[in-house]
Amino acid sequence: MFRFRYLLPVLFCVVSAVLLAAELDPASHWYATARERTALLRDAGKAIFSDSSFSASGRQSCASCHDPARRYNPANTLDVQMGGLTLRSQGFRAPPTLTYLNRIPPYDNHHHDSEEEADNSIDNGPTGGLTWDGRVDTGAQQAAIPLTSAFEMGNTVAGVANAVRKSPHAAKLRAALGDDALATDSKAFAAVTRALGAFEEDYAEFSPYTSKYDAWLTGHAQLSAQEQRGLELFDDEAKGNCAQCHLSKRALDGTPPAFSDYGLIALAVPRNPAIARNRDPNFHDLGACGPERKDKAGQDEYCGLFRTPTLRNITQRQTFFHNGKFHDLAEVIEFYVTRDITPERWYSRDARGKVIPYDDLPARYHGNINRDPPFDGQRPGAKPRLDKDEIAAIVAFLHTLDDGYLKDNPYRSKR
Ligand code: HEC
Ligand code: HEC
Repeated sequence: MFRFRYLLPVLFCVVSAVLLAAELDPASHWYATARERTALLRDAGKAIFSDSSFSASGRQSCASCHDPARRYNPANTLDVQMGGLTLRSQGFRAPPTLTYLNRIPPYDNHHHDSEEEADNSIDNGPTGGLTWDGRVDTGAQQAAIPLTSAFEMGNTVAGVANAVRKSPHAAKLRAALGDDALATDSKAFAAVTRALGAFEEDYAEFSPYTSKYDAWLTGHAQLSAQEQRGLELFDDEAKGNCAQCHLSKRALDGTPPAFSDYGLIALAVPRNPAIARNRDPNFHDLGACGPERKDKAGQDEYCGLFRTPTLRNITQRQTFFHNGKFHDLAEVIEFYVTRDITPERWYSRDARGKVIPYDDLPARYHGNINRDPPFDGQRPGAKPRLDKDEIAAIVAFLHTLDDGYLKDNPYRSKR
């Protein structure tokens, strides 16, 4: 009897010890459910996002250009950011916000939309994809770009692999992806990009839908008279017509507006002389037809096209458009309504003092430039569609798109 009296507690201890060991030992990932593994991956991604040891300089992380405190917009007012080994290499595009990036559909040459529109036979043209030119489709694919770009984090696959093996995130990645997740350099690099992609799929963090506008759409807030007027001008086809591309209404299936239809469009934003690459008169950032995107090289109809960005959290940005040329929202709107009325205000001049129309896009691509409202009918002498007060109203409305007005996503709590 003596022996049996102790059997049960001993057995209990042994079983608990085994379970505990399994829990503590990162190598034993077998117990984790898929959900736990995703959570581990996301946590690792969140930590890596702000960890400078993944850059060649040791001084730059994803958060350096996408600051979580500014809704993943750059914290500074630079037109474009610096990177590389000594942080002296200049990029040539402004970092977009990462909020609402999980709303961006995969890139498609001929987008037919059944969710946003009643008529899905309309070809909306090139749409979607991550980055300004839509060249990758997933967060994981995208993360590989800044980690190894010479003007961003400037690292190598081996350098990233070394960094992750030494980092406190290694155990989580092994637990999430398997014992051999960091065994080779290419596996370790893939584990890092997968973790960053998983972090960006954290909807509560990246797509909170807690703006005043969301509160208004769900009946939890009133817009001021000026904000209301701004919204009307934003939507009105005869005025701003902004909502044609920056969708402001809920989709037919109830999805809240993302303030973008993700179309790739040529607006002919003025050339930015502050970008070092632009000292070479033969260099042009042509968006979808290159230089960063390679698959449309030489296909003229894609030249000058950049993906329409979301306008959610836009007031957290201090730099606007793909080349960071603008720093003031009212000025952005003035550009929209006077691009072709006073081109001399926006574009540079040649040696003889003649204005170079659309000075960042070679003439052979000018047929790609968008001429829908508010651009239609613009010619020197015409009256701009929006005056100063109207522009101020639209800017006031744009302030309602900042997250953080509500505590919780109002669409979710209604369900
Ligand atoms: C030196 C500044 C810089 C750093 C560091 C940086 N990024 Fe970016 N990020 C950019 C720029 C610039 C773009 C636009 C690139 C383009 O269009 O070619 C961008 C675009 C993106 C996009 C696409 C967003 C969209 O709307 O399409 C994602 C996602 C992203 N970055 C994530 C990351 C992650 C993850 C890291 C860290 C591994 C990172 N970035 C590090 C500057 C930076
Ligand atoms: C025909 C489609 C279209 C219309 C109409 C349109 N936009 Fe845009 N918007 C874009 C595209 C495309 C870009 C990016 C262009 C680039 O950087 O080359 C953009 C960029 C912006 C940006 C800069 C965002 C950032 O993250 O840098 C702001 C602000 C903006 N639009 C506001 C407006 C407002 C306000 C209106 C109405 C007056 C408007 N847009 C009308 C397509 C459009």
